[in-house]
Amino acid sequence: MPARRIDGKAAAAALRERVGHLASFFSASTGRPAGLATVLVGEDPASEVYIRSKRAATAEAGMESVHHALSADTSEAELLALVERLNADPAVDGILVQLPLPGHMDSARVIAAIDPDKDVDGFHVVNAGRLAVGDPAALVPCTPLGCLHLLKAELGDLSGRHAVVIGRSNIVGKPMAMLLLGESCTVTIAHSRTRDLPALCREADILVAAVGRPEMVRGEWVKPGATVIDVGINRVPGVEPGKSRLVGDVAFAEAEQVAGAITPVPGGVGPMTIAMLLRNTLVAAHRRAGLAAPEGL
Ligand code: GUN
Repeated sequence: MPARRIDGKAAAAALRERVGHLASFFSASTGRPAGLATVLVGEDPASEVYIRSKRAATAEAGMESVHHALSADTSEAELLALVERLNADPAVDGILVQLPLPGHMDSARVIAAIDPDKDVDGFHVVNAGRLAVGDPAALVPCTPLGCLHLLKAELGDLSGRHAVVIGRSNIVGKPMAMLLLGESCTVTIAHSRTRDLPALCREADILVAAVGRPEMVRGEWVKPGATVIDVGINRVPGVEPGKSRLVGDVAFAEAEQVAGAITPVPGGVGPMTIAMLLRNTLVAAHRRAGLAAPEGL
């Protein structure tokens, strides 16, 4: 029997609706909407698409979206000055500086300049540290937070399960591992130097693939009945000449014959990322306003 398909689109829609309700309570009780400031430097077409989607989703949830488009030749000092202004602006609850930044900028320095309590991407080292020590004040990166949401919805209690995370990036792999550890999973972080990756993956009750290599994880790597979360979004040539299609890091057609449940690409993890950005913005807004964290997010 093929695996259950985990419907990230539906889960994201439900979460966005809930955020929308809570955002209107927030506006009513504080007299102002929660606000997200987005910053894009340059004109990278993919980044422009991401920013447009994030802004539209923010507005749809009844939150204020303020965008700052800076030219590609903006100096790092000018960008840092903007971040400082946004840090000081009481109407701004969340700050998102879209990555990648142009080559003449040091993204670590720019991220470090963001007020950690407005860092809705969860990229600041203070938030990475809070997550590592289990401090609930952490703002957690949106993609792994979305993966955890799907896993809990699918499996309930995760405790004692063996989770293998393939990928060690600061944005997905490492925070994913921390979140799973926080749920009392036994966590293994695998990467490009891991020996006998297929055998290790076959040990996993939960397999999270976040490597950015199209269809790397084969069906025979999956333990029967495992839950597979595919973070990859890779554009590959389509069947028709000149066309392309999206595939994950997991060979879906093979893996779904073995797994118990699996996220498709597209329609799995992807939609959860923006939903979690809205969630993080609303949580940051509540904390900044001295209100109790909204329940059920
Ligand atoms: N570029 C690609 N994904 C992201 C993201 O989640 N946040 C930011 N800031 N930049 C990105």
